[in-house]
Amino acid sequence: MTKKIIFLTFVLIIMICSFTYFYKKNNIAYNSKVVSLMKKYNIYNEINKNNYSKTLEIALESGEFQEQYATIYQEIDYIERKNFIKDVNTLLSNNYSSTEINTIFQKYNNIKNFEINKVNNYEEYQKKNNCSLEEAVLKVNIGLDHDFYTQINEINNSHEYTVLVNKYHSLGNYEPTDLKSLSYDSKYQLREKAADAFEELVASAKLDNLFIRPYSAYRSYDRQELIYNNYVARDGKDEADTYSARPGHSEHQTGLAVDVWSEGYNYIKDNDAKWLKNNSYKYGFIVRYTKENQPITGYIEEPWHLRYLGKEIATDVVAKNLTYDEYYDLYIK
Ligand code: DAL
Ligand code: ZN
Repeated sequence: MTKKIIFLTFVLIIMICSFTYFYKKNNIAYNSKVVSLMKKYNIYNEINKNNYSKTLEIALESGEFQEQYATIYQEIDYIERKNFIKDVNTLLSNNYSSTEINTIFQKYNNIKNFEINKVNNYEEYQKKNNCSLEEAVLKVNIGLDHDFYTQINEINNSHEYTVLVNKYHSLGNYEPTDLKSLSYDSKYQLREKAADAFEELVASAKLDNLFIRPYSAYRSYDRQELIYNNYVARDGKDEADTYSARPGHSEHQTGLAVDVWSEGYNYIKDNDAKWLKNNSYKYGFIVRYTKENQPITGYIEEPWHLRYLGKEIATDVVAKNLTYDEYYDLYIK
């Protein structure tokens, strides 16, 4: 009897071991959903089940899987990042080898804003400017590897409060729909939230004995065109471009930018400039064009030009000490 029990236990152990062995051999680490996807794509037999590939698994699970790359996915080291499989597919379709792809992802692994289709431009920019890869990525993404106004993208989120308008992005003839007149003079208009925030800012400046008033707020495409052309006629195009936006490229056209005067309707400087720099963000505005920002924005210093972004983002832009162009690429887009 005891012998029989020992024998049966032995048989049972052998059975469990063989089952586990065969189960593992055929399905190593891939879950049943992935296995059934492999079968659906008829790749189950050609997949090396002893060499689990997370890249293959994620490709199948994400729906980005492309049959012609079934084998090669297994040679690509998986990296946790947004659109990884999509990017891998792009590189594979451009005939990059798995080794090259692994090298690229290793190199750019910590740079979250890198875009796969710009890899060559980053390398070129870095060589030419002898800068860090992070800087090359940021500058190229902004467009700075091209001269201002030579590569223009149409803006497709014109009505968002976070919209980026600069010499590389055009609003076309966009017109905001929620303009509101400012209380000081109805000819000055801003979009609703920006208008309310601006009045708050002015009231707060007053408590600090500073007089702030608008002298230009919303400007239509046509109005900007008129202004810009007048400046070009007066100073020539090159100089006008350093202080006036071409039509379609002005933040004023969004209804989110306002230029301000100080006491006696004078230009902003000294104390007023300091106050605006140190306080505007509390009301959701940033001083958009500073001296340090000129290489990126292409505009000379304008301590009077305030851009509304909302309190949270304006505060963060100031805390991170970035131009909005940089901030947009790193945190918004
Ligand atoms: N002066 C600023 C750059 C504008 O024209 O929008
Ligand atoms: Zn302005």
